[in-house]
Amino acid sequence: MQYVYVALDRITERLVALKTPKNHSATKRFRRSAVVAAKVNHPNVAKTLDYVREGERRYLIEELIEGKDLKAALLVSADFLDPYLAAKVFHHLAKGVAAAHHAGVIHRDLKPTNIMVVGDYSLSELKVTDFGIAKMAGEELLEAVEGGDASMTSSQTAVGALPYMAPEAIETPKEVGAPADIWSIGAMMYHLLSGNYPFGQGLKAVPQIIAAQPPAIPVFLSSNPQFSPLASELMGLAISCLKKNPQDRPTGDQLVSRCSELCYTSSPRFRGVVRDFQFSAFGFIKTLSGDVFYHRNCVYGALPAVGEEVMFSRYVGGGADRALPVVRLKN
Ligand SMILES: Nc1ncnc2c1ncn2[C@@H]1O[C@H](COP(=O)(O)OP(=O)(O)OP(=O)(O)O)[C@@H](O)[C@H]1O
Ligand SMILES: [Mg+2]
Repeated sequence: MQYVYVALDRITERLVALKTPKNHSATKRFRRSAVVAAKVNHPNVAKTLDYVREGERRYLIEELIEGKDLKAALLVSADFLDPYLAAKVFHHLAKGVAAAHHAGVIHRDLKPTNIMVVGDYSLSELKVTDFGIAKMAGEELLEAVEGGDASMTSSQTAVGALPYMAPEAIETPKEVGAPADIWSIGAMMYHLLSGNYPFGQGLKAVPQIIAAQPPAIPVFLSSNPQFSPLASELMGLAISCLKKNPQDRPTGDQLVSRCSELCYTSSPRFRGVVRDFQFSAFGFIKTLSGDVFYHRNCVYGALPAVGEEVMFSRYVGGGADRALPVVRLKN
């Protein structure tokens, strides 16, 4: 829907993100979106810095986030997130969205490409972007849905947004309120926790979203007692956002408060390769800064094989540092 450039502000000498709509007819709406986005001031929301006109073109200038979007950062090398990392994402996401709702701003198009992450799995920052351009996305989506399968699959906007859209955003897009954002948070968190879209992808997802039957909870979430309490709590919270009736979903503030009660670590993450695994119980992960010990009970999800890459947090231990949690990465 828009071109996104890295630009240098020659006065302040800083790099910024410069956005301009691809479609000229969207220009008026683009200005409104800049005004809307500028109302939100929160560390979990990308800051709108300016809006300028240059001839026919309009540009929105935004804080440049030197990271990747949520999907590229977190779901390319791993199928799903461990509950500590998922709790951190949930908490930051809820805070950004709650701050917007406080300012009277509804996003309407929350999806992984509109969420930027800095620091990959260590997740030093998480920021929601593209507040306000959602109305444009809504129209693009409507066109895509009305055009049937062909335009649906050709519209990147529609393909990306649909799996996270609330039932009312599909059925009555003009009446969408803050609870639609809560639904999208729930859908994204379900995806990050389970590795699957809650209601599937493409046009086939539409009837499933409208029916809003609670999606299934994969067994691996509860198969390791070390992680199952937090994983179940997070999944319960995600599913509570996926209630058909918007009034039955938690508010942004309630989500923030529930997330702040969770007990999770947010230590930095490292990558390494499993060097060995002994007595079907423990092993060592090879890293540039020495071997790290791990026990199979500290592995979340499938056990990694020797030679496979893993992601983990490390803590000082006698002899070798110890890893927890350990998550196998896609090779
Ligand atoms: N403030 C920013 N700083 C750095 N990168 C950004 C920023 N905003 C957006 N991006 C990057 O630009 C990419 C394209 O953004 P854009 O909004 O055009 O597309 P989208 O969000 O993937 O989908 P759509 O706009 O069709 O809904 C994003 O995926 C993101 O990686
Ligand atoms: Mg975007």
